[in-house]
Amino acid sequence: MQRRQAEPYKIKVVEPIAVTTPQHRLRAIAEAGYNSFLLRSEDVYIDLLTDSGTSAMSDNQWAGMMLGDEAYAGSRNFYALQEAVRDIYGYPHVIPTHQGRGAEHIISQILIRPGDYVPGNMYFTTTRAHQERAGGTFVDVVIPEAHDPQNRHPFKGNVHLGKLRELVDRVGADRIPYLSLAVTVNMAGGQPVSLDNMRQVSAFCRERGIRIMCDATRCAENAYFIKEREAGQADRPCRDILKEMLSYTDGCTMSGKKDPLVNIGGFLATREFDVYQKATQLVVLFEGMPSYGGLAGRDMEAMARGIREMVDDDYLAWRIGQVRYLGQQLLEAGVPIVEPIGGHAVYLDARSFLPHIEQAQYPAQALAAALYLDSGVRAMERGNVSAGRRPDGSEYFPRLEMVRLTIPRRVYTDRHMDVVADSVMTLHRRRDRIQGLNMIYEPPTLRFFTARFEPLGGMLAAD
Ligand code: F0G
Repeated sequence: MQRRQAEPYKIKVVEPIAVTTPQHRLRAIAEAGYNSFLLRSEDVYIDLLTDSGTSAMSDNQWAGMMLGDEAYAGSRNFYALQEAVRDIYGYPHVIPTHQGRGAEHIISQILIRPGDYVPGNMYFTTTRAHQERAGGTFVDVVIPEAHDPQNRHPFKGNVHLGKLRELVDRVGADRIPYLSLAVTVNMAGGQPVSLDNMRQVSAFCRERGIRIMCDATRCAENAYFIKEREAGQADRPCRDILKEMLSYTDGCTMSGKKDPLVNIGGFLATREFDVYQKATQLVVLFEGMPSYGGLAGRDMEAMARGIREMVDDDYLAWRIGQVRYLGQQLLEAGVPIVEPIGGHAVYLDARSFLPHIEQAQYPAQALAAALYLDSGVRAMERGNVSAGRRPDGSEYFPRLEMVRLTIPRRVYTDRHMDVVADSVMTLHRRRDRIQGLNMIYEPPTLRFFTARFEPLGGMLAAD
């Protein structure tokens, strides 16, 4: 008998959430232009929009909040953060930022020159937007398996060395300021990169003189997958695996809002003193002093403590296990999802779910709206709307057209997951009744945040 495991924590504070009526939800989603980003959170029952900034902090983190040293410069909480980053990530130089994209902005401005190429293991929206804004061209060098939702490769986030070599040979290493290496890969479905791949990529990049900037946003979850799946790693603590992973990189951008279990915060870290020095010059312009980077002292303290909690093996096993618990129910019901089930979310494959809706009519956006209407569960589109447009104005039409059911850390119980599974399975049974959408307002950048839609053919809901 497989013994069941429960949460490695108990609940001290609760936050009530409202169950809404179908009429209420119909009005709310229409007012939101059928875009789940534009819903008010009060109208949402179970919020799976994102795992970003939505974690429940521990009592130890809350205790740390009371120890905020709100000095303009040299706050003791900055030193606690620096210590945690040196200890757990291994980078000597750290600059706090208000969140991950603050660090992406700074590193892109420092390292990218107009005309440069930035290879990456699949794009992330804000990361690529900052690279392009600095004049760079993003080049996808992830293995092809990552673009196939049903391919069960255990490390779908791996870099394809052949593609990387081809790019370096074609444009020259001096046109490539860094390889952007995400662990895990969000847009591929929260898929990990193997240690072996990181080792090989690092050897190649060192030989060609190209630095590796890691997007370490979900690096602890990546370490857990390595422990679980990679030969010889099962007995190592995730903490050790993580340290080895990052030893193959030259620095990182980090959103503290994910793995480090805080509601706001991020940082830029590097091994290179001159990059650090340039970053200290830019951070004062855009974020704040290098010793707070847009954060209150208490926020840095909470992040420092969260960084130490995020590498706990029992926590990570439970965390990844809860995501899997939801995904497994959907798989058993024949719902098409991205496999293997990723680290922070279950991704519905909207193309297979709704084969009758063309990609130009945004099937993933339509499915996310239908899910909200059915049960008040809020999900996020990660497909054609998120991919946006090329510099020439055409849509990307990415191969992956997905709805992300993103699980906040330590927030919901498995019973909440059951409610989500029931709703998705209901929609799947009635999928032929879901219609596509027409985009009626489109902002020029990162359009998914604020675009508005209307249903084609009137009826959007499953009933
Ligand atoms: N990199 C990755 C892989 C991310 O998933 C995110 C944010 C960022 C960078 C940017 O960090 O939000 O702190 O500025 N992802 C959120 C999400 C928004 O919902 O996936 P940020």
